[in-house]
Amino acid sequence: MADLIMSEPLIPEPLLQQAASLLRSGRRLAVLTGAGISAESGIPTFRGAAGLWKSFRPGELATPGAFEANPGLVWEWYDWRRSLIKEAKPNAGHESLVKLEQHVPTLTVITQNVDGLHRQAGSASVLEVHGSIWRVQCTKCRGEWEDCRVPIPCPPRCECGGIVRPGVVWFGEALPMDVWHSAEAAVSSCDVMLVVGTSAIVYPAAGLVPLAREMSARVIEVNTKQTAMSHSVDVALTGPAAEILPLLVEQCIHC
Ligand code: OAD
Repeated sequence: MADLIMSEPLIPEPLLQQAASLLRSGRRLAVLTGAGISAESGIPTFRGAAGLWKSFRPGELATPGAFEANPGLVWEWYDWRRSLIKEAKPNAGHESLVKLEQHVPTLTVITQNVDGLHRQAGSASVLEVHGSIWRVQCTKCRGEWEDCRVPIPCPPRCECGGIVRPGVVWFGEALPMDVWHSAEAAVSSCDVMLVVGTSAIVYPAAGLVPLAREMSARVIEVNTKQTAMSHSVDVALTGPAAEILPLLVEQCIHC
């Protein structure tokens, strides 16, 4: 006869309840997400053992200087990432945030991801502080538009003849000012912040967590690992976002 085995819960029940009750107490929620929330959709993160920055150098692919030196190479890398992202679907983590949004007065998703999966999942208020991999911009006439072709010519050209660049923020560049101001406003006025799947080391986005603390918001972190922020949050839930967020949101809504 097979033995009955009791499996350990992913998160200790008291910790999950503590996080859920914090979440329930919030009237204005800000959610900061990073690459980890899309990991279970099959999109690689940047850091960590299998992260993109283990095999590729950011200085050769994600800076204005790199693009100027070799736009074709930069575009080949983005074309490859676009092909991965095109196949990806939002996972239970993205979907849980949509569900949560329906049960709280205000929820703003601030994402460092360029994959568009929060919008695809149906989140109503999404601020893409590092831009979108599906947007492009002409380096000559400065026109901006959406281009979802995969593959895309490397590099693509604008009607004006200019070389077109990906509509993402590269190292050394400023964040889109209006989007960034909206992110700062959402964090300054939030009472609870959820920080999901980010190493929280790339600024200015990472600075939104201390900003929330300064404004006396309570902070919950969901990550598979300890991060630079873990010591300063109210509750750190360790595990995959696609498993933890559904548990957390269910507990928040139904208890
Ligand atoms: P990182 O790759 O730096 O960090 C991903 C985080 O997600 C790590 O802390 C992992 O432990 C965690 N993680 C991995 N899998 C997870 C899962 N299934 N569930 C929950 N957490 C998981 O990605 P970001 O913090 O988003 O910028 O990186 C920030 C910025 O650095 C990016 O936007 C990009 C990058 O260079 C630019 O390219 C300008």
